[in-house]
Amino acid sequence: MRRAVCPGSFDPIHNGHLEVIARAAGLFDEVVVAVSTNYAKKYRFSLEERMDMARQTLASLRGIIVEPMGEGLLAEYCRHRGISAIVKGLRSSSDFDYELPMATMNRQLSGVETVFLPAEAHYLHLSSTLIKEIFLLGGDVSDFVPKSVLKRLPAGESAAEQPRNG
Ligand code: PNS
Repeated sequence: MRRAVCPGSFDPIHNGHLEVIARAAGLFDEVVVAVSTNYAKKYRFSLEERMDMARQTLASLRGIIVEPMGEGLLAEYCRHRGISAIVKGLRSSSDFDYELPMATMNRQLSGVETVFLPAEAHYLHLSSTLIKEIFLLGGDVSDFVPKSVLKRLPAGESAAEQPRNG
């Protein structure tokens, strides 16, 4: 069983994430979509909401499970879950510069490999941060997120997690 992980905040999951996860599912027997929690970050959506949106959106794809990653090291999570590869989408050379040291560090820490998938050209400009900003300023984000996310965007603000010390 070749098991991979697609880790991320998914705040919220968007069409670029979905495309990378679907391609990962074609390469591995099982793909774990691991939804992270970082208490230094202020999320728009709670962990449960982020997982719900991912589950609803990915329900039709085989071999994918969605679960919380927790707060610890991704390398430890992979070791614990028997995961041999981390899959990350790359949109740009700056993504690569950011990801490369983490990929090397994760391999050194636990032997887990990182597989980079070049993002589909159509999705190179997508990020959860940009999508939330466009939505909050009244723009149309329906081309960028699945329906399950679109209908929940207005509700996210009230449920947003607060930083632990903020
Ligand atoms: O969607 P994000 O917020 O960019 O996801 C980032 C994530 C979860 C992939 C990254 O923050 C991460 O790997 N967190 C786990 C903590 C960790 O292992 N840090 C050391 C990296 S070498």
